[in-house]
Amino acid sequence: MFRVMIVGCGGIAPAHIEGYLHAEEGVHITHLADQNTERAKALIQKYELRDVVAIADYRDGLACVDVVSVCTPPGLHCEVAVAALESGCHVLLEKPMAPSLAACDAMIAAAEKQGRLLSVVAQSRYISSIRNVIDMVRSGEYGRSLYTRIHSVWYRGESYYHLDWRGRWEVEGGGCTLNHSIHHIDLLLWAKGMPSCVRAFMTNLSHHNSEEEDFSSAMLRYADGSVAEITSSLICHSEQQSLTFQMEKAGLAIPFQAFASRARENGFPETDEAQIAAAIADYESRPKLALENHDGQVQNFLRAITAREPLMVTAQDGRNSIELITGIYQSAIQEREVCFPIAQDSAYYTDAWRAHAPHFFEKTTEVAAFQDTTITSFKDKF
Ligand SMILES: NC(=O)c1ccc[n+]([C@@H]2O[C@H](COP(=O)([O-])OP(=O)(O)OC[C@H]3O[C@@H](n4cnc5c(N)ncnc54)[C@H](O)[C@@H]3O)[C@@H](O)[C@H]2O)c1
Repeated sequence: MFRVMIVGCGGIAPAHIEGYLHAEEGVHITHLADQNTERAKALIQKYELRDVVAIADYRDGLACVDVVSVCTPPGLHCEVAVAALESGCHVLLEKPMAPSLAACDAMIAAAEKQGRLLSVVAQSRYISSIRNVIDMVRSGEYGRSLYTRIHSVWYRGESYYHLDWRGRWEVEGGGCTLNHSIHHIDLLLWAKGMPSCVRAFMTNLSHHNSEEEDFSSAMLRYADGSVAEITSSLICHSEQQSLTFQMEKAGLAIPFQAFASRARENGFPETDEAQIAAAIADYESRPKLALENHDGQVQNFLRAITAREPLMVTAQDGRNSIELITGIYQSAIQEREVCFPIAQDSAYYTDAWRAHAPHFFEKTTEVAAFQDTTITSFKDKF
């Protein structure tokens, strides 16, 4: 029986609670920690949890649990995760792993020293329709991946940045590139691995209560000569997000679409219906996951602790996303191409650069919490 504590009882905590409740492993949620204990109590009531305590200081629960889910604002992830790992717990961290590579490495070192599992939430890997397309891309059946287009476009209104921890480089860590596109960036990295270099641009188009970017555009180059582009934004009505992988034999997209062209004698295209039909058949033959989103990831995390399954999202995966995103910020700020890896002696390895990051606007309004704590779900888009 895993004894579980959830630290941070705001918008994303219910997804973790439901994940533990739906898991087929033996789980007992024993502690909900939040500096505002009313939030912890509200979740205990909502889920009718038994034999669970609401605590203000997560450190008071560490000795009593085996597993900790970290659902605090990003700037606290490292502190909470390292404390939990050092007290012998396995840790499931919400995304982004941490705002800096130095913090990621501190957590990885603590996990290795203690021999405990550290995983980072990337729940889109647990959406069947997404996983199946990524598996098709990785299969090699469609030839080399040449050009990938990530359209990570979201809509968040002005008031989104009124929440106290959002909208400041040194607290939230970054805008849409770090906190929203990270879902799609994880998928890109899963499909293609780390690029060798990035060239990026960022701005803030319409969030006047945020220092950070609400739009960025990045071009990536890979060692094999292929390229990718990532558009990240918070200003896009209807949030039509997509990933499109153009490969030698076909194009595959998420949400699922298959395209295929072949060249006529003069090089102009004609549709390759047979290749499209084969790709559709391939997609439709692939399995559906029994548990999706956080539910699937929480179950995999628990099974990985007992070595029943390999861990799907490793701490290194979480770190890779942070490294690519840090490269995007560095490139946009320095207006030059940035190549990977980012060295430990770089100002961009630690948080140091954030003190000098451009402020697109100054934060002037803040609230400790919203009345409406419900959030829209990534899963509804796929
Ligand atoms: N995977 C996803 O789709 C997804 C979606 C939303 C948020 N997130 C991530 O989840 C994390 C939390 O985001 P949220 O939207 O739930 O934020 P939130 O502000 O709604 O909740 C954060 C909670 O942490 C609590 N907290 C702050 N400091 C604390 C401390 N020292 N000890 C205990 N509790 C503390 C706050 O009181 C608050 O209740 C962030 O990292 C965010 O990026 C992930």
